[in-house]
Amino acid sequence: MMITTQHLALDLTYQGLTRDQLQQFANERLPRDFAELRAQLLKGTYENPSEGRQVTHVLNRSRHSVVAANGGRNRFSEIVRTLRSGKWLGATGQVVTDVINVGVGGSDLGPLLGSEALQEFADDNTAHPLKVHFASSMDGSQLYTLLPQLNPATTLVIMASKSFSTIDTLANIRTLKAWAARELSEQQWLEKHVIGVSSNIEGMTNFGIPPAQQLSFAESVGGRYSLWSAIGLPIALTVGANQFARMLDGAKAMDAHFGEAELHENIPLLMALTGVYNREQRGINNLAVLPYDGRLRKLPDYLQQLDMESNGKQQDRNGKPIDYPTGPIIWGGFGPNGQHAFYQHLHQGYDNFAADFVLVLQRAATEFDAATQAEFAEQQTLSVANCLAHRRLMWFGDGKTYPGQHPSNLLLLQELTPQAFGALIAAYEHKVFTQGVIWKINSFDQPGVELGKKIANEVLEVIKTGTGSDAFDDSTQAILQRL
Ligand code: F6P
Repeated sequence: MMITTQHLALDLTYQGLTRDQLQQFANERLPRDFAELRAQLLKGTYENPSEGRQVTHVLNRSRHSVVAANGGRNRFSEIVRTLRSGKWLGATGQVVTDVINVGVGGSDLGPLLGSEALQEFADDNTAHPLKVHFASSMDGSQLYTLLPQLNPATTLVIMASKSFSTIDTLANIRTLKAWAARELSEQQWLEKHVIGVSSNIEGMTNFGIPPAQQLSFAESVGGRYSLWSAIGLPIALTVGANQFARMLDGAKAMDAHFGEAELHENIPLLMALTGVYNREQRGINNLAVLPYDGRLRKLPDYLQQLDMESNGKQQDRNGKPIDYPTGPIIWGGFGPNGQHAFYQHLHQGYDNFAADFVLVLQRAATEFDAATQAEFAEQQTLSVANCLAHRRLMWFGDGKTYPGQHPSNLLLLQELTPQAFGALIAAYEHKVFTQGVIWKINSFDQPGVELGKKIANEVLEVIKTGTGSDAFDDSTQAILQRL
């Protein structure tokens, strides 16, 4: 069973469900008001009850939304153009050559995935190639290896944080500020070397970021749904504002498809229903995401946040406990390398799993000579053959020692264009939304993570003051003692 849209196709043959079975399952599990709730999501009026606001990331797919969010001034495109054309001069008059995106979770994973996936589509009108780096880790390990290669006078920092208060990001920024102080005064650094991206405008202002270097987005855009907003700045810096807009177009086309296509033609809806079926009827608690294109190797990380932070819940939308399984564990890795690592377990291990194979069929023409180009084409074919082979073995087994019967989807992209990438990510967003509706949960908050942050602050306070550790358990106390 194959569904084809303009940018993305889905083959769900190896889910092993007939049209009638799918229809019956949809009748049983999709709530009566699903069409209404879906329309609300697509209009930006769906409710996020625990945070008391509407869910509006879909509104960011409009080409003008980033501009509109920033007071109607085309600050986003202007920043992209200036940096990419080598016209952004640092405080000492040198051209900025490197940008570090400092963010974590949704302020890191989407921009990182998008930049890696779409690099080849960069508009080639840049006189000055700009290098875009990423730092998310609270322990500073990324900056530790990156900073010796960079010069503060030619480096710009994007401070990307929806809340502008995430401790991981603030810690990396403090390190960067100390590092920059070797060459620049604090004022010079803030005026020419820092861009803020946040929905907390006051926070950016208090930090000292000049208004012209503040990019904002709506509070009603969840962090893990924010790559379409100004949080996508690193993608635009990598590929150019036009290609970024094409990514938005692809997502928008998927929104229309999700809103209009009937059940048997609707990619996100079918991904959601087969996922719920696997969870509830087959007892499968995990989904392996297996991209067969190295440019998408960060996709499993990205989808872990999108899906698990959204639907890993034991409370319904009204805060009442629920007693049925909700979102599965999402894991996975780059398929061709996984074949030489964890696939053995997938083929013969004891555990059940479902899988999403993501396959790109062709690669756009490159500037390599014909012979090298032909070899790359061979490699693409090799990857396709391997994807199809392992997918078959996981489903059919061999009738003897390989059990098979592991259901999978095949998400097929003709080429990894910005539009196709946008459509792929939007399809997953809508899958997660639909499953959240089916399981009656609010997919747009993350109370568990917030509680973890609160406890981390309490532990930090004890470490800093050296008092109060007796409130903790023996194990925690013993480790704090060593510190
Ligand atoms: O992990 C919790 C979380 O709030 C994510 O939802 C979010 O993407 C991440 O932290 C980073 O938050 P912020 O963009 O506010 O720094």
